[in-house]
Amino acid sequence: MSQHVRNGWYLGAWSHEIGRTLKQRWITDMPVCFYRLPDQTVTAVEDRCPHRKYPLSLGHLDDEGTLQCDYHGYRFDGRGACVGVAEQTDRPKAALRRFPLVERDGAIWIWPGDPELADESLLPDTSWLNDPGWTHVHGVVPLKARHLLLLENLLDLTHETFLHPTSIGNAAVAATPIDVTVDGDRVGFSRRMTGIEAPPFYEKSCGLTSPVDRWQDGEFHPPGVFILHIRVAATGTEEPEGFHMRVLYGMTPARGNETHDFYALGRDYLIDDEELTTFQHEQQLAVMQEDVDALEAQELMYATDPGGTAESSIKSDLAALRGRRSLMKMLAREQHGQPGQQGDRTARPTESV
Ligand code: FES
Ligand SMILES: [Fe+2]
Repeated sequence: MSQHVRNGWYLGAWSHEIGRTLKQRWITDMPVCFYRLPDQTVTAVEDRCPHRKYPLSLGHLDDEGTLQCDYHGYRFDGRGACVGVAEQTDRPKAALRRFPLVERDGAIWIWPGDPELADESLLPDTSWLNDPGWTHVHGVVPLKARHLLLLENLLDLTHETFLHPTSIGNAAVAATPIDVTVDGDRVGFSRRMTGIEAPPFYEKSCGLTSPVDRWQDGEFHPPGVFILHIRVAATGTEEPEGFHMRVLYGMTPARGNETHDFYALGRDYLIDDEELTTFQHEQQLAVMQEDVDALEAQELMYATDPGGTAESSIKSDLAALRGRRSLMKMLAREQHGQPGQQGDRTARPTESV
């Protein structure tokens, strides 16, 4: 039984990563082979040949979009049906498991669970990734730590004060409490910092000098998406006049306690300033590396303490604890064969915590 929620959308790849070559990526402990058909539609199949489980991603794709396993030559059409094998004329009974996919705004979303439950309306709004008024950088970083640790990292940004003090953090972050909201399985938080010193990243990104106001609004769309809305303005400026940035994280469980850490960092100002784009991308990767180092150190401690010495929690953990609870509830519902999960949110009132 998977330790991961599978009935949900995960970021499986950025569009530019998938072409006419076969790409393997593990998703929720399953090997997945991504590729594009001649009409450019993207396909994802289980990366195990139904003959003797050789990875199909080590095979070949021909110009018609037929996928050939390069062990004994089974061939599959674009729908995953076996269309033949070289050594006999009758067709073997075999088909590939195909995963529901949505390609939107430069991202490829995959639903690794029950295809009957795949519901596009559950995808978060990513239109800003495709909005001419915005520019963004994006990529994916490998993380040797479990998905839950990344989720809790993002839902508790007080760590910016301690882990990222030379870029995006300073004392104001940890000193400012958050408001948390729960909407079904979704969790949000907001933090309003006013009249604070500008951390170096924002000083350079926005050309502002202290004091500034800084807002953080985070949204967790379970099981695997986190979006942070950032606004920074000279103190006393009304919110709409601030500098707007957004960060999207696709937290996609890979294999065992490893995670694909997809990221996109966008802004809606100075969108043609390539120097600023380069600076922001370098900073984003440096900040993510600090997180990766911390999460991998933390993973070792969790992995070697399976009995679980008691954890201590504080008020600023509230969003992270709610996020953890959402994932646990979704997993429990899935393992008990109950449908729903994110879709249930419409039936519940928003709960303030
Ligand atoms: S394992 Fe694929 S054809 Fe044999
Ligand atoms: Fe961080």
